[in-house]
Amino acid sequence: MSHPSSVANVGEATVAALRVLVVDDEQSMRDMLRIVLRRDGYVVSVARNGAEAIEILQREPIDLLLSDIRMPDLSGVEVLRTAKETNRDVVAIMMTAFASTDTAVEALRLGANDYFTKPFSMDELRLKVRHHLETRRLRQENVLLKRALGTAHEFCNIIGCSESMLAVFRMVETIARTNSTVLVTGESGTGKDLVARAIHFHSLRRDQPFVALNCGAVPETLLESELFGHVRGAFTGAEANKKGLIEVAERGTVFLDEIGEMNGTMQVKLLRILQDRTFRRLGGTEEVHADIRVVAATNQDLRKLVADGKFREDLFYRINVIPVHLPPLRERREDIPLLAEHFVGKFAAAMGNAVHSITAEAMALLQEYSWPGNVRELENLMERGVALESGSAILPETIAPYVGAARPAVGIAGSLPEAGFDLEQHVKDIERDYIAQALERSDGVQVRAAELLGMSFRSFRYYVKKYNLK
Ligand SMILES: Nc1ncnc2c1ncn2[C@@H]1O[C@H](COP(=O)(O)OP(=O)(O)OP(=O)(O)O)[C@@H](O)[C@H]1O
Ligand SMILES: [Mg+2]
Repeated sequence: MSHPSSVANVGEATVAALRVLVVDDEQSMRDMLRIVLRRDGYVVSVARNGAEAIEILQREPIDLLLSDIRMPDLSGVEVLRTAKETNRDVVAIMMTAFASTDTAVEALRLGANDYFTKPFSMDELRLKVRHHLETRRLRQENVLLKRALGTAHEFCNIIGCSESMLAVFRMVETIARTNSTVLVTGESGTGKDLVARAIHFHSLRRDQPFVALNCGAVPETLLESELFGHVRGAFTGAEANKKGLIEVAERGTVFLDEIGEMNGTMQVKLLRILQDRTFRRLGGTEEVHADIRVVAATNQDLRKLVADGKFREDLFYRINVIPVHLPPLRERREDIPLLAEHFVGKFAAAMGNAVHSITAEAMALLQEYSWPGNVRELENLMERGVALESGSAILPETIAPYVGAARPAVGIAGSLPEAGFDLEQHVKDIERDYIAQALERSDGVQVRAAELLGMSFRSFRYYVKKYNLK
């Protein structure tokens, strides 16, 4: 995988011995420096004059140049110039027999890092050499790290290395700064929520509120007051004025999740907001202006809803100004290992668990599976995997029951209800139930309860906390 390996390279850069070039026309100085610097572990080359130095510079990769300024042929300043031309990153320390500040200044201007006036203490020189090389290493490491991060396949907590996800990252970055309405589409669990947040946090509105409303979760009768607020007496029970989310989000972003669930009346009101950025509070008469950016999301096919007469066509066009589509995980399998490892790291840290990898066989199972629940399903499975594993790696046996490679050890799924159901919630309910049963059977002794479920104490404790059990 490119991310971890490029980071590892950062460390490797320091392993190779560093090369120093000593340039001085004085034999005793050359010998002395060579001996001292060799003892400090550097590979040392020596040149008797400027011409020789330039030859070496063009032949060898020099990390540090230690050059006299006054030499019979070329001046040290010339050597420095060539050194910088061949390698911008070379560290240069100049030496001069006279306290001639103007050449020293000229040397510094040309990019020398330091200069010494002869005679100088060898120890001081050794310290300076080490210091400048260390500074350079840190600087290079920083550049490498930044470069690694640039291709780290992570954008605002969104992870992906597939061409399609990289295109999403680029798109989000480009559109974030505009005020255009965005429609994020994709199956459940593909990361629409994350993308909506990334758009807000990359926009100029990032310091203003990000307000999310799940249109499918709020009862129809409450949606209007929730979104637009109401004035006192608007309906029975409205005892005071209440701000709607649109007002709360003023100058920020409103995220309308599951927009396909909005009923006809609300669609008209939303259209109005998008057209002229004004709205009326429920029961109010005043036209209120709203400075908001709207990001909407849906896992439904809005075009089909339009064709079926369930979603207003004019609203669809108002919302679909900039479409961002998140492909299902099965269509970007390259992302699976990266995501899986990310989640293992995250949950192992949360559970204080020693699991830190996924065996190749287990990874193969993950890569073959169809992931109907997309990234969310993978995340949940890695959470379970980390909890159940007692060794340091996720084994194929642990995850096989979930990814359809074998029968589950306990219980067989019931038949799928006619109207379908919320599988994820169902699985959570089962999980919570087993944790509670184990606690009860072990009289609240968590170590024993954890044993009953084949998980570590720490993992067990994590679930107890997650489900708020005592
Ligand atoms: N590319 C990704 N990198 C890291 N985590 C991700 C990624 N995509 C999704 N996730 C994680 O998966 C879970 C589901 O993501 P999210 O809530 O954004 O999906 P969604 O598309 O909004 O789903 P739904 O349609 O069910 O609302 C979250 O916990 C999220 O952090
Ligand atoms: Mg969502």
